[in-house]
Amino acid sequence: MRRKIIAGNWKLNKTISESIRLVNTLKVKIVNVSHTDMIVCPTFISLSAVAEALKGSNIQLGAQNLFWEENGAFTGEISGPMLKSAGCSHVIIGHSERRQYFGETDETVNKRLKAAISAKLSPIVCVGETLHQREENQTFDVIKAQIGGALQGFDTSELRELIIAYEPVWAIGTGKNATPEQAQDVHSFIRSQLEVLFQADFAASVRIQYGGSVKPENADSLLSQPDIDGALVGGASLDADGFAAIIKSSENLI
Ligand code: PGA
Repeated sequence: MRRKIIAGNWKLNKTISESIRLVNTLKVKIVNVSHTDMIVCPTFISLSAVAEALKGSNIQLGAQNLFWEENGAFTGEISGPMLKSAGCSHVIIGHSERRQYFGETDETVNKRLKAAISAKLSPIVCVGETLHQREENQTFDVIKAQIGGALQGFDTSELRELIIAYEPVWAIGTGKNATPEQAQDVHSFIRSQLEVLFQADFAASVRIQYGGSVKPENADSLLSQPDIDGALVGGASLDADGFAAIIKSSENLI
């Protein structure tokens, strides 16, 4: 049985004090949660302060990106050991906004994944097709290439903490979520790819989150699909009530 995992991707939102306020409000609402892993991913600058605010709670901390070198002349970048020292346990890699606006490729995703693993950060690797690719019936080809590219060169012992997030680009921030059936189809395809690349028991153990306009109203139907093991939530994670409601959906499905 895979444990559900709900992560909030705050993207470029919240100052340090707003971030602290949000987790302080959230903490109170999720005190009884015990079957669901919970993660918040604030901006880099809020990580330490949020780590401090989360002490004693079972919410974990994630970053939204990392660079593949540990240190050196790479102005503006941040490394795995630095994120670890700020209190992170997780890191998002290859989010579609990074691919779309910041030149992220499957090759750079692969390098970042290597860096995350060596820093002992649990990676959340994002994949997903654009609307055009879906309309051209390329969804499975795109996902296959993204998964293959990201995971190239690893063995299962290195990928024990791997989390994959399926986020159709056309569903992110648009209010238009994939239907539970559309999401389940791709999740099951991702699992079959993991089986082809590695082994069946490994494929069965990897948690695959869905992301793209997850909200309290659609969380139940998405999270009850057999291959959907959680959610990567953007907009709705910026509101403590909404995010807590999504976590409770997951909790109630146990
Ligand atoms: P959204 O974002 O929930 O606002 O659609 C999801 C994501 O990009 O991780």
